[in-house]
Amino acid sequence: MFDTSPFHDLLGSLSPGVMQAYVVLMFLAVIAGTIMDVIHKKSAQYFFENSQKAKKAAKRTVSGGEKVSLAVSTVASEVLTSSEFCNPKRRLSHLLTMYGTVIFIATTIILIFAYPTPAEPVSGGVVALWHLGALMVCVGGYWFWFAIRVNLNSEGNPWYRFVPADLFIVSLLMMTTFALLWSLTRGAGWLNTLFFIIFIAASTTLFCTVLWSKFAHMFFKPAAAYQKKLTRADGSQENLPDIGDLSDPDLQARYPDIPTYMGDKPGYMGLGIKRESPNHY
Ligand code: HEM
Repeated sequence: MFDTSPFHDLLGSLSPGVMQAYVVLMFLAVIAGTIMDVIHKKSAQYFFENSQKAKKAAKRTVSGGEKVSLAVSTVASEVLTSSEFCNPKRRLSHLLTMYGTVIFIATTIILIFAYPTPAEPVSGGVVALWHLGALMVCVGGYWFWFAIRVNLNSEGNPWYRFVPADLFIVSLLMMTTFALLWSLTRGAGWLNTLFFIIFIAASTTLFCTVLWSKFAHMFFKPAAAYQKKLTRADGSQENLPDIGDLSDPDLQARYPDIPTYMGDKPGYMGLGIKRESPNHY
């Protein structure tokens, strides 16, 4: 199964050039969708105005070296390990979906551009990774869809209730599910063709609806995480008060109530934060 690229089966009806043109078109659709999203939501303007505001409120100047180290820590933490998720299940599901998508898209590009015909013997490892990427998206994505989503887990909506905000996850799941089914049913005639048509319809939906879906969050979230770190480093703190270290004796002397209502070790917030998750619907 891993000795041949599933895309080679299409060569009777589609030339390598057509497949490569489709990939390029989808790439352009993502770029166009993201640019339109930025213009439509005025997010670039918001980011610029927000950073100007932060600069005015800054208490210290952050050096170029510090900015590089903040960018590196954003990539190493928020991007590569999805550290913004506090709920470990959501974090694991996000990691599976994110890495699965990256592996699936990267190996699709390699298979279509580096091994366009059987004349170039395909590497079994690349084909195996293509299947693994799709499988990782399915595991993380179905787990999210059937158990983790807030509107299902906390609001009690049925799993089949679909709202426009679900466009991203549903088209992503359809794409990888039907890619796997298409590859697994090679040689099965019309059924195989049907799975291929659904696979391509889902992938076209995923890449051509960036303006309306959550797709572009993968570009915006890292920028927002970096900006947040910058406001902590320059002391502007998004115009929020600088509370300081609550265990600092000087601060406790200034505000004598702190130890009284927070205990001797203010870092420990008590049992209140151990409340059960909100799922009583
Ligand atoms: C291929 C790349 C990615 C895919 C397929 C992906 C997929 C998803 C999905 C399906 C969700 C909904 C899950 C949930 O809310 O629990 C989500 C949410 C989220 N993603 Fe990603 N993601 C990707 C990249 C990134 C990157 C690079 C970041 C960077 C920091 C990021 C940060 C987040 C955050 C913070 C949420 C929660 C948003 C919210 O609750 O509104 N994602 N992502």
